[in-house]
Amino acid sequence: MRVLLTGADGRLGSALQTRLSARGHAVSGYDVTRMDVTDWEAVRAAFDETEPELVVHCAALTAVDRCAEDPDRALLVNGFGTQTVAQACQAHGARLVYISTNEVFDGRAARPYLEYDTPNPINPYGYSKWVGEQIVRELVPQHMIVRTAWLYAHGGSNFIHTILRAAREGQPLRVVTNEIGSPTYSNDLADALVRLIETGRSGTYHLINEGQVSRFGLARCVLDLAGHRETPIEPIALAEFRRASRPPEYSALRNFAAAQMGIRLRPWPDALSAFLRAEGLLQE
Ligand SMILES: NC(=O)c1ccc[n+]([C@@H]2O[C@H](COP(=O)([O-])OP(=O)(O)OC[C@H]3O[C@@H](n4cnc5c(N)ncnc54)[C@H](OP(=O)(O)O)[C@@H]3O)[C@@H](O)[C@H]2O)c1
Repeated sequence: MRVLLTGADGRLGSALQTRLSARGHAVSGYDVTRMDVTDWEAVRAAFDETEPELVVHCAALTAVDRCAEDPDRALLVNGFGTQTVAQACQAHGARLVYISTNEVFDGRAARPYLEYDTPNPINPYGYSKWVGEQIVRELVPQHMIVRTAWLYAHGGSNFIHTILRAAREGQPLRVVTNEIGSPTYSNDLADALVRLIETGRSGTYHLINEGQVSRFGLARCVLDLAGHRETPIEPIALAEFRRASRPPEYSALRNFAAAQMGIRLRPWPDALSAFLRAEGLLQE
């Protein structure tokens, strides 16, 4: 299949490019320098060059605090940029896979969110991604919306690297106990996404490593697995952690739809161990 991949340099995009290519797909990966999704002419040129049968739209403004500080920018990239990509899909008759987020939910649920639950974003990042979802549903009949959460990947920085760096440098660690989610290893997500894409199905899906944990529980697990058992963490409440964006407190996702098709990711503690092992950080 001819695949156009946006956000190809990102956490998920780079893992996906490798896997789609290994499966024999002709993947054209675009980063922001080659195709800014808010630039219609650039998007049109990329589509003309690639003539994609499938578009996987990973590009987004993902820095949630930056989105809170500049909501118009979030809406421009994640809303209007998605509209541009969706319109180009319409013009070329391409299927569209849109990657979305747990942050479209308000965090007030008493159980993990299902694909069929109603979004109600509470911050500008979540709102902009929810706008993107609605645009995709309106403009591209052959679409997949795939929500994921708390992604971590090799390279770049992420919550796990931040915790380990602080432990190594002897900095005090304060981590919130009442933000709960589904940490997801980008490599596992990319493997599952390829399988889901190759089913040729449409619809809304949740792909996350199974289970749920608080930020505090995740940090504790990271430190224990990486040989920092003695490093203390001070538990704090979300309200004590000053930041521009307000995350949903409870945003664990449940994979119901893809699981019916036999596609599910391993439990998050297993994925975390695999990630740390691959980084040479697991103390066995
Ligand atoms: N990270 C998470 O925890 C998480 C959780 C749930 C869902 N998601 C979703 O999963 C997808 C992939 O996330 P990720 O973690 O791989 O993100 P990422 O590493 O930040 O990658 C996103 C890529 O999009 C690029 N980009 C930003 N603005 C752009 C524009 N105007 N035009 C074209 N490209 C642009 C970024 O470039 P720059 O780096 O130069 O800005 C970056 O390379 C996103 O749709 C995100 O919303 C992420």
